[in-house]
Amino acid sequence: MTQAPGSRIYSRIAGTGSFLPERTVTNDELAKSVDTSDEWIRSRTGIRERHLAAEGQTTGDLGYEAAIRAMEAAGVSAADLDMIVVGTTTPDLIFPSTACLIQARLGADGCAAMDVNAACSGFVYALSVADKFIRCGDAKTVLVIGAETLSRIVDWTERTTCVLFGDGAGAVVLKADSETGVLSTHLHADGSKKDLLWNPVGVSAGFNGVEPNAGARIIMKGNDVFKYAVKALDSVVDETLAANGLDKHDLDWLIPHQANLRIIEATARRLDMSMDNVIVTVDKHGNTSSGSVPLALDTAIRSGRVQRGQLLLLEAFGGGFTWGSALLRY
Ligand code: COA
Repeated sequence: MTQAPGSRIYSRIAGTGSFLPERTVTNDELAKSVDTSDEWIRSRTGIRERHLAAEGQTTGDLGYEAAIRAMEAAGVSAADLDMIVVGTTTPDLIFPSTACLIQARLGADGCAAMDVNAACSGFVYALSVADKFIRCGDAKTVLVIGAETLSRIVDWTERTTCVLFGDGAGAVVLKADSETGVLSTHLHADGSKKDLLWNPVGVSAGFNGVEPNAGARIIMKGNDVFKYAVKALDSVVDETLAANGLDKHDLDWLIPHQANLRIIEATARRLDMSMDNVIVTVDKHGNTSSGSVPLALDTAIRSGRVQRGQLLLLEAFGGGFTWGSALLRY
């Protein structure tokens, strides 16, 4: 794409989509298999139910469904795509990437395709990558997907983690535009906190003492994650507003990572924002990692709550630790 001297290119959201697998598991159903209760889960996390992928249904399948909905909303075809970026920490395979698998199903052969693994911040990281490619003029139309099947790496006998997670996907089509769009993105990580939220099963690092057949599973020190997440998110929302010379009262909507209602409420308090201006979907699907921000965004747009021209702050926090934000005018 050529850029006229002096003109600026921004990336704008042209369409959104999302997809949740059909099967739902309520808190009461979970309480039949682990020592927990609907009351405990709702009061600590805000989660009421989660969706689980069917046997054989993969991250790529969920991402594909979200993608076709986003492309339809944006009015773009596979041939229009210059790039596909998928945020995921539960890829279908080690390789090819889930982005390549989705590309083949879409028939978008030839465009660039890659996965970004930043755990629950995967979508915000992927959005930032896509935005940069558009701003520098290397791409005009980018499909950004956040998709996960965390149910495959949850230990369903461990009540401290299994109540939190679910499967799902969301997607946006970003297009080059002379009007803003994405105003800025801010990405951070702190790899020294690896052991507070991780999955020990690897490729190069081997199985880290986990029996190969025992499967990969999420290990988390929930309390420490909670405290760090609140601080990191406070800091990144302050950074985002400062970078754009904006006041917190300028924001129309907070569209946060849907991990835990109490973390979301803490960020809303920091922004002096009424919960009426915060998109909350965690009750419906639990923590879907990279899927959560685009799921919430799509839900908000399709319900008519988020309107064109409004200022949205997206944020996420996840294993790594990783965290980040995106400020955009829809
Ligand atoms: N049902 C019932 N009791 C549970 C339980 C469950 N599902 N999970 C833990 N408990 C128990 C604990 O065993 C503990 O019991 P004890 O006091 O007898 O030892 C008690 O509840 C309190 O545990 P604690 O871990 O201190 O609870 P908490 O208030 O910190 O809430 C989380 C736990 C996981 C909900 C909370 O720490 C959290 O949300 N952390 C952030 C997690 C997250 O979002 N991670 C992903 C980030 S991307």
